[in-house]
This record gives sequence, structure tokens and C-alpha cells, in this order.
Amino acid sequence: MRRTVPTKSGRAPSWADVTPRADFLGRREVIAGAAALAALGAGPARAKIAAQASAFSTDATPNTLEEITSYNNFYEFGWDKSDPMKNAHLMKADPWAIEIGGMVERPGTYDLADILATAPLEERIYRFRCVEAWSMVIPWIGFPLAALIDRVGAQPGAKYVAFTTLLRPNEMPGQRAPGIDWPYVEGLRLDEAMNPLTILASGLYGEEMPKQNGAPIRLVVPWKYGFKSIKSVVKITLTDKEPPTTWKTLQPREYGFYANVNPEVDHPRWSQATERKIGGGIFAAREPTLMFNGYADQVAGLYSGMDLRANY
Ligand code: MTE
Repeated sequence: MRRTVPTKSGRAPSWADVTPRADFLGRREVIAGAAALAALGAGPARAKIAAQASAFSTDATPNTLEEITSYNNFYEFGWDKSDPMKNAHLMKADPWAIEIGGMVERPGTYDLADILATAPLEERIYRFRCVEAWSMVIPWIGFPLAALIDRVGAQPGAKYVAFTTLLRPNEMPGQRAPGIDWPYVEGLRLDEAMNPLTILASGLYGEEMPKQNGAPIRLVVPWKYGFKSIKSVVKITLTDKEPPTTWKTLQPREYGFYANVNPEVDHPRWSQATERKIGGGIFAAREPTLMFNGYADQVAGLYSGMDLRANY
């Protein structure tokens, strides 16, 4: 994506479902593990989060914490995959609040703790497919966005949900550079936002969200290309019009509003038929990309009758 900027089912519960990481590993190993991870770039020790298992998790093996936290797209911190790991510590993620407004019954500025109390936190092990044709499996911790929307109450005419990332150029060096019209913005149709697969995630691997992955809270929409999963969200607005989205605004011919993972619709400059699994090693064969990233059973109905080539 970097070079395109105008000049850029059920599964057995796992340890994280039931056991805080400290208990699972034993305190001494956690300390040793945290030091090792910090050395590898996973950053400082983060608070543990208890979460319950979800039937929506894949049984595919998750990528390692190191892979998930060292190969990132978070352009607010630079254009290289390793820039977020190096620079995201500059962002202050506490205190944090989300302003919820537009066509809702109960608009307001909700503190993070209040947002996180909306619904029980779940571990959701999801496939994650970037539009750049690489993929990972990530054990997110979060809760359904639908629960938050129900809590604030969508007004009858609301059709879309718009999301905005933190705008703080003094903490986000990428926002001091040209290329993107900051802040990063994204959007979903309301029915997509209400789908049970769509979550707001506040952690991964049983711990608070690392900053490079979008601390303290981000969207995760597993059947769409990764750029829809906007990080470090500060504003959620319900509206009756399709909201502007960062990549569509930059390159409308290459990135659409829907951005559903679709192996049959290529990016104008590369194929989307296969993907490179991060961590697979240099000799690993590319894997076939699945329609809706493997989530067709849950989401294909959202698009029945729609031309997915026109609505890319
Ligand atoms: N959100 C913001 N605010 N800024 C970004 O640059 N990059 C997107 C998405 N969310 C991005 C963002 C892209 S292109 C991808 S692939 C995913 O975040 C990467 O998420 P990850 O780094 O947690 O794997």
C-alpha cells in the first residue's frame, strides 16, 4: 500500500480463554518472557486481560506475539512495517475516551473503562488479511461493536458508522508528514457494524493492546482487508450517508468503501488470489485467499444481489 500514496465455528478453549497469562506460565517465566519480548520489540509489559472463549474463533494457529507486534501498518508512525514498533510508544493512550455522536439516542463522550464495560470481553482468534496480500492469525480480545451501538441507540435513519483515529501530530510523527489527510478515517454500513463478527478490540494474546496494534481500542472486521480495521479510535459517528474513508479518498480506483476480501477481484496492481502468511518462512508456498477471508457463511448474506466487482 505504501507505494500507492499519491506518490504512497466452534473450537476447544485455549489457555487465554480461561487463564490469565501469568497463571498459565508461572510468574518467573512471565518476567523472563516479558524481558525477552521487550528485547524483541514487543514493548513494555502490558496488563493482563481475562476473556472468555468465542465460537467465532478459528482453530488456525495464531502468529507469534513478536510477528504481530513487529510487522505493522500504522502510518501515523511511519511507512515502514517496523516504524510502528519503534515509534508508537510516543502516543499517550491513557486517559482515553470515545466521542459517540451523530444519529444516536445517547450521544456523549464515553471513557475507555465505561466502553469496555459494555459487554463481556471475548478472545476472538481471527484471520487477518491485508490488501497488500499478506496475512496473519491474531488472537484479539474485544467485544461486539453491536453491543456498543445498541447501548447508545441507533436512530431509525442511521445507515452507516464512521470511525476516526486520534489526531495528535506531536505524538504521531507520521501525521507531520504529507501523503494522508489526517486523521485516518474509516466506515462501515450499519448492518456490517452490527454483524457479530465485528469487534472493538482492546487487547491481544491475553494482554492490553500493544500501541503499534492500535491501543487502547481499535476496530477489527475480519472479512475485510486490514485497512478497514482502524486503530486507536477516538470518535464513532452514526450517519445516513456513506462516510469518507482514508484509502478510498487517496486512491478511489484501487481502494473501495467495501474492501471485502475477494480472491476474484484483483487489486489493479497485484493479484488477490493468494496470500503470503507472515512467519511462514521464505520457502513457504503462498496460500489461496478465501472469499470474505473465510467468513462467507457469516457475512455473504450482507451482500446478496450486490455486484462485488463494482462495489470493491
Ligand atoms: N489505522 C490507522 N489509524 N492507521 C493506519 O495506518 N493501517 C491499516 C489498519 N488500521 C492503519 C489503521 C492497515 S493498512 C492494516 S493492514 C491494519 O491496520 C494493520 O493492523 P496490524 O498492524 O495490527 O496488523
